[in-house]
Amino acid sequence: LFGTMKIKNNELYIGGISTVELADKYGTPLYVLDEKLIRDNCRRYMESFKKNNPNNKVIYAGKAFLTIAMCQIINEEGLCLDVVSGGELYTAYKSGFPIEKVYFHGNNKTPDEIEMAIELGVGTFVADNFYEIDKINEIAKRKGTIQRLLLRITPGIEAHTHSYIKTGQLDSKFGFTILNNKTLTAVKRVMSLSNVELGGLHCHIGSQIFDIEPYLDEVDIMLSLIKGIKEELGYEINELNLGGGFGIYYREGDDPNSIEDFCSSILKRAQETSKELNIPLPSLSIEPGRSIVGNAGTTLYTVGSIKQIPGIKKYVAVDGGMTDNIRPSLYNAEYECIVANRIEGERREVVTISGKCCESGDILIKDIELPESNSGDILAVLSTGAYCYSMSSNYNKIPRAAVVLVKDGKSKVICRRETYEDLINREIAL
Ligand code: LLP
Repeated sequence: LFGTMKIKNNELYIGGISTVELADKYGTPLYVLDEKLIRDNCRRYMESFKKNNPNNKVIYAGKAFLTIAMCQIINEEGLCLDVVSGGELYTAYKSGFPIEKVYFHGNNKTPDEIEMAIELGVGTFVADNFYEIDKINEIAKRKGTIQRLLLRITPGIEAHTHSYIKTGQLDSKFGFTILNNKTLTAVKRVMSLSNVELGGLHCHIGSQIFDIEPYLDEVDIMLSLIKGIKEELGYEINELNLGGGFGIYYREGDDPNSIEDFCSSILKRAQETSKELNIPLPSLSIEPGRSIVGNAGTTLYTVGSIKQIPGIKKYVAVDGGMTDNIRPSLYNAEYECIVANRIEGERREVVTISGKCCESGDILIKDIELPESNSGDILAVLSTGAYCYSMSSNYNKIPRAAVVLVKDGKSKVICRRETYEDLINREIAL
């Protein structure tokens, strides 16, 4: 059990509220977010990553989960924010998030997005390619400003994670390759232009990574690069952003490091390597997304049809599925689940939990042992705070689920459930 989860009267409680009551009050499927756990994770990062330098930054990766209320929490906790699109930027702006603390990512920001970001006053762009450096410079010039940017480098590190969420290897759509001195060429390009200013370097090796080793390699590779830039071009890089990707617990066998251990290993290695290379240590940044919000989210579903295929399998169908959580179908991601209204139920059995979409691959959990479920039971799928709501869809014209924040016995809807009207409201009849 994560964060404020408790078992009381044989029911699952989060934030001091019964999930059965939440399901009853707001309907299902329902994303429930444990506000205290989100804030605790933010604080643990802020505390442990700023230890050797108060200028070190923790930048929340909004792609994991972003709404106006989430931006407000991130701001109250003092983190910076990573956005990857005009839409995420707009959400941050509307929430009142300090725009100078926003980092704008992405491998193909459109001219419109660049223009919007410069107009709103985004603090830092993470430039991904030569086209973008030139575009940012051109638009900044037209607007009469100088735009700070980091260059995203592909450091050539293979992290052990699903191939769809690996990004650090040499063959990647992201960033400037470290091969053939392309990085130096990019730095020179920025230095030669009048309306962009080089703030530092960025890299990101992938997501849901448990090993610390690839991060330590990343630190070494990037600091050597920084030394090279200083020696060859006389330019001192003062921010090194190491990206995000720190793994979390989803199911038995997952063994993540604590936030504290993770941060302190990175800081220690950075200090050692910069000493060895005899260069000043730049300020460091990290971009956690999943590890801030992942375990803080739980999705509640109501069980509907139950079907036993004799001698083969029992399917328990819920009222959501790949529309609210695409991760099992997309990455074979695995989750843990509990029967929220009957934690210690009788007659345990192995079942497969299926979604309601017209798609055989819409299976949430394969072969999980649960107390015997009945139609009307509430299932709670754990650790769904990251990349579920943010990757949700309207496939089969299923309205998106509501998101409710819980804390100290109180609940608040931070994103209302979509209605059928919402679903057709951009459509135009013949
Ligand atoms: N920084 C950059 C540049 C990133 O590309 C990402 C994630 C992060 C930070 C945050 O990574 P995190 O700490 O959340 O792992 N949809 C996939 C994950 C895609 C991650 C994309 N980039 C999933 O559901 O597993």
